[in-house]
Amino acid sequence: MRMVDIIEKKRDGQTLTTEEIRFFINGYTNGDVPDYQASALLMAIYFQGMADHELADLTMAMVESGEQIKLTEIDGIKVDKHSTGGVGDTTTLPLAAMVAAVGVPVAKMSGRGLGHTGGTIDKLEAIAGFHVELTNEQFAQQVNDIKMAVIGQSGNLTPADKKLYALRDVTATVSSIPLIASSIMSKKIAAGADAIVLDVKTGDGAFMKTADDAKMLAEAMVRIGNNVGRNTMAIISDMSQPLGYAIGNALEIQEAIDTLKGHGPADLNELCYTLGSQMVVLGGKAATIKEARAMLEEVVANGAALEVLKKFITAQGGDATVVDEPAQLPKAAYVTELVAKEAGYVAKIEADDIGTAAMLLGAGRATKESEIDLAVGLVLRKKVSDYVEAGESLVTIHANREQIDDVIEKIYAHIHLTQEPVAAPKLIEAIITK
Ligand code: URA
Ligand code: CA
Repeated sequence: MRMVDIIEKKRDGQTLTTEEIRFFINGYTNGDVPDYQASALLMAIYFQGMADHELADLTMAMVESGEQIKLTEIDGIKVDKHSTGGVGDTTTLPLAAMVAAVGVPVAKMSGRGLGHTGGTIDKLEAIAGFHVELTNEQFAQQVNDIKMAVIGQSGNLTPADKKLYALRDVTATVSSIPLIASSIMSKKIAAGADAIVLDVKTGDGAFMKTADDAKMLAEAMVRIGNNVGRNTMAIISDMSQPLGYAIGNALEIQEAIDTLKGHGPADLNELCYTLGSQMVVLGGKAATIKEARAMLEEVVANGAALEVLKKFITAQGGDATVVDEPAQLPKAAYVTELVAKEAGYVAKIEADDIGTAAMLLGAGRATKESEIDLAVGLVLRKKVSDYVEAGESLVTIHANREQIDDVIEKIYAHIHLTQEPVAAPKLIEAIITK
């Protein structure tokens, strides 16, 4: 087999066989296929797209390029959730605790944040003593005992994806839906989930800026999952403004705890129940979405979900008293209210730029090596459609530096008021099942 023939075939719009896709992925991973040929094929895929069977083959070839986590020691159907990333997306923790409290095992592999989107592990490290260094045995045991564990990303998952992603980044081929879909799904599948619930974000603050692109990506991922034997569904949710109120690590832990106590932000709450209901059905604990939702509401109302969170924190070395005394979380030295200069309705809170403002305070990483400040961040006081009086707070800024003019300027430039009433954006744009 020759790489040049594979490139030519895809260039001319033909479909590749399983063997051809494997030849490419294996060859590229081990260095036999050079960057220039891989680049040419990626660009051909960018323009010609991929058929469903090619997508499934590409995904599985990437899965098999490295280690695959076996969760067979864990009882029950393991359902994983993946979000394509947003600003202030505090969902994973309250969602995991709720679903676990209903009896669906949550064996989560999580990452750290990069840029203006946060990572679950960074957030958890705002809890004193918390760590994610568990052996595979401890991980499995903990999920069997308390239904919830979070572990750091294993080093050798999908090396083909790592290498290809770096190449896509410099060859203008990142924004290809088949390439994004197979990249995301390869990592979820290698991490061992039996079933996958995807939260594809759309809007300014998201990877997919339009609802149409988000829908195409979601449909491609749902087809891949189901074609390779993992029950997969997706929702499309709004990321035109940040999710919830808090953006920043300790601040988001506080928001997660509030949500499990039943008084979280309305949008975060709704997203947790929507995703959670799907997970409970896929996990085989309820027959219908309606039944699943009632079960989740019950474990929040009766405190069972909050109990799971406490056990989970304790099991991973953290001090669970923080759940009842959130004042123990890291605190910033300077807390400033940023007030509206005039009265009006909030028309837009540009998620991307507000995320960047939080990053300027130190809440996110500019590069992989950056240190983050767990205490700092922003708490929105208003969301899109709310009315604000002149002089009323729009955002509370938690900073560890006195001079924050850059942050203030950035926030003012990216929160827009209008004199006309504005409708709140629709949170759940679509639900996509096989
Ligand atoms: N996230 C991924 O993991 N892969 C992509 O290709 C894009 C976003
Ligand atoms: Ca939030």
